[in-house]
Amino acid sequence: MAPGTARPALPVLLALIGALLPGLGGAQTSAHPPEAIIPRGGSVQVNCSTSCDQPPTLGLETQLSKKEVAHGDHWKIFELSDVQEDSHPICFANCHAQTTAAMTLTVYWFPEQVELLPLPRWQPVGENFTLRCQVAGGAPRTSLTVVLLRGEEELSRKPAFGEPAEITATVLAGRDDHLANFSCRTELDLRPRGLGLFQNSSAPRQLRTFVLPETQPRLATPEIVEVGTQWTVNCSLDGLFPAAEAEVHLTLAEQKLHSTPLYGKDSVLATAIVKANAEEEGTQQLACVVTLGGQDRKRKDNVILYSFPAPNLTLSEPEVSEGTVVTVDCEAQAGVVVSLSGLPSGTPAPRAQFQLNASAADHRRSFSCSAALLVAGHLLHKNQTRELHVLYGPRLDQTDCPGNWTWEEGSQQTLRCQAWGNPVPELKCHRKGDDALLPIGDLRPVKREVAGTYLCQARSPRGVVTREVVVNVTYYQSNMLIIILVAVAGILGTVSTAAYLYNRQRKIQKYKLQKAQEAAAMKLNTPATPP
Ligand SMILES: *[C@@H]1O[C@H](CO)[C@@H](O)[C@H](O)[C@H]1NC(C)=O
Ligand SMILES: *[C@@H]1O[C@H](CO)[C@@H](O)[C@H](O)[C@H]1NC(C)=O
Ligand SMILES: *[C@@H]1O[C@H](CO)[C@@H](O)[C@H](O)[C@H]1NC(C)=O
Ligand SMILES: *[C@@H]1O[C@H](CO)[C@@H](O)[C@H](O)[C@H]1NC(C)=O
Ligand SMILES: *[C@@H]1O[C@H](CO)[C@@H](O)[C@H](O)[C@H]1NC(C)=O
Ligand SMILES: *[C@@H]1O[C@H](CO)[C@@H](O)[C@H](O)[C@H]1NC(C)=O
Ligand SMILES: *[C@@H]1O[C@H](CO)[C@@H](O)[C@H](O)[C@H]1NC(C)=O
Ligand SMILES: *[C@@H]1O[C@H](CO)[C@@H](O)[C@H](O)[C@H]1NC(C)=O
Ligand SMILES: *[C@@H]1O[C@H](CO)[C@@H](O)[C@H](O)[C@H]1NC(C)=O
Repeated sequence: MAPGTARPALPVLLALIGALLPGLGGAQTSAHPPEAIIPRGGSVQVNCSTSCDQPPTLGLETQLSKKEVAHGDHWKIFELSDVQEDSHPICFANCHAQTTAAMTLTVYWFPEQVELLPLPRWQPVGENFTLRCQVAGGAPRTSLTVVLLRGEEELSRKPAFGEPAEITATVLAGRDDHLANFSCRTELDLRPRGLGLFQNSSAPRQLRTFVLPETQPRLATPEIVEVGTQWTVNCSLDGLFPAAEAEVHLTLAEQKLHSTPLYGKDSVLATAIVKANAEEEGTQQLACVVTLGGQDRKRKDNVILYSFPAPNLTLSEPEVSEGTVVTVDCEAQAGVVVSLSGLPSGTPAPRAQFQLNASAADHRRSFSCSAALLVAGHLLHKNQTRELHVLYGPRLDQTDCPGNWTWEEGSQQTLRCQAWGNPVPELKCHRKGDDALLPIGDLRPVKREVAGTYLCQARSPRGVVTREVVVNVTYYQSNMLIIILVAVAGILGTVSTAAYLYNRQRKIQKYKLQKAQEAAAMKLNTPATPP
């Protein structure tokens, strides 16, 4: 037997003997205090005394380092220092026989480590997770309790067992646990021993909880897209918590698309504006991945990127003179069917062509070519139009400028004379003889003076054409006027003759009177002569 293990056996034996033989010699041994609690590494003084009537031999049996600090006849005070663990020192006295008294020395210390083990990075809502708290050290363990906490709320309280002690609690994660702080705390309750309640806490750990439904995200994209055009892709997922923590990644043909997420209360919508270039023509995979809480939800769709340039519609010459043969040609890429306006639809082909002898009626005629392409069951059309310009004229013929007009004077008439041509000719009509201009358009009322023979000339850079236009004006009122004039002349003649005759008669009478007066005067002046 090793001496170290043998040593505690001796005081225990002595104590047993002392207890069995208390009255021997009448002497009693006591230890004071019988019980003590001290911090670990601390010291304590023990008073061993005896009631022996002779000078006794007093001692303290302990493994602890001890020092006698005072003594009397029947007592001794020992100081025990650097006490690391609980022990039971025994005072003994040899007086006739040996008597002993045991004491209980309890060491307390605070846990050296209180740690809440790491929580899951992300915890799905509705699933259990475990809180684990490890406590290293701390004594006395009978007074040590471990408490698990959410914030200030106690979730579980258990005594600390084992070294290190591990305490666990199962918690059902909820939405309100998101960003909650969990921690654990030890309580060393030494209040029954006359000391206090000593608490030590772990560092808090924050939990993040999430909800990510099993459903796939929704991808909104056109099925077919023309390369070089801009289009929009939307990817969305509902029922998320916390929605703002969700990340969305959109890819086209494994190339990342730049997208901007828009967060709703429990949803996310990412929109990407895409412009595919010609190299990506064909069937491409569009993918959307929503990530939350370290988990993914994926959705993949195919997009057909097609290229479909408009057909090339050409006129051999965009501007021709009347009577020129023009070739209208429409050509599209292989696999495309074109149809050309003005040409009966024949066998489907990527090219169509025809010729025409340009006439004035073809001026500003519009030719259109429509190309059709079938992409994944969608019939697509692209059109191209061209306008033909025909140079013709000048033209001035009977239908557009009638050459003989006969109207009644004073009637309401319209004089129509229109010259045609491209470029538009300039039209002028001059009267033969006096060069007066013919008023074209409204003639209200028709006046006699417009009558005459006019020479109309249409002039354009392409030449000059001339046409005679005769305007006749008839007037019936002319005879009546002559009658009136004759009547007026007759009346005037009669009146003036009458006036003359009257005047003459008056003058004759006046003369006769004068003559008579002269004769009378002569009769008075001359002596009466005998007859
Ligand atoms: C030790 O105990 C004895 C007996 O109770 C007592 O008489 C003595 O005064 C004590 N010594 C001290 C220093 O208190
Ligand atoms: C969570 O744990 C409790 C008790 O520990 C158990 O009754 C419950 O069924 C568990 N719930 C889930 C979703 O695992
Ligand atoms: C948890 O702790 C962090 C940092 O100590 C703090 O910002 C946060 O508000 C706490 N959360 C709650 C729910 O108290
Ligand atoms: C434990 O708590 C006590 C007081 O309650 C304090 O004095 C001690 O330093 C703490 N220990 C640790 C490791 O924090
Ligand atoms: C994408 O989302 C935006 C914003 O809600 C909406 O205006 C647009 O119409 C959506 N596009 C498609 C293709 O669904
Ligand atoms: C085109 O039409 C004009 C008038 O109808 C005719 O004189 C000419 O010969 C035609 N040209 C051709 C090439 O057929
Ligand atoms: C149309 O014309 C352009 C330029 O001449 C040419 O690059 C293109 O390939 C043509 N397209 C078709 C469908 O023939
Ligand atoms: C192109 O022409 C076709 C047939 O002429 C017509 O159905 C289609 O609507 C036209 N498309 C456009 C964009 O003008
Ligand atoms: C013009 O018309 C009138 C009657 O409508 C006719 O008498 C005359 O002969 C015509 N003159 C010509 C040049 O056609």
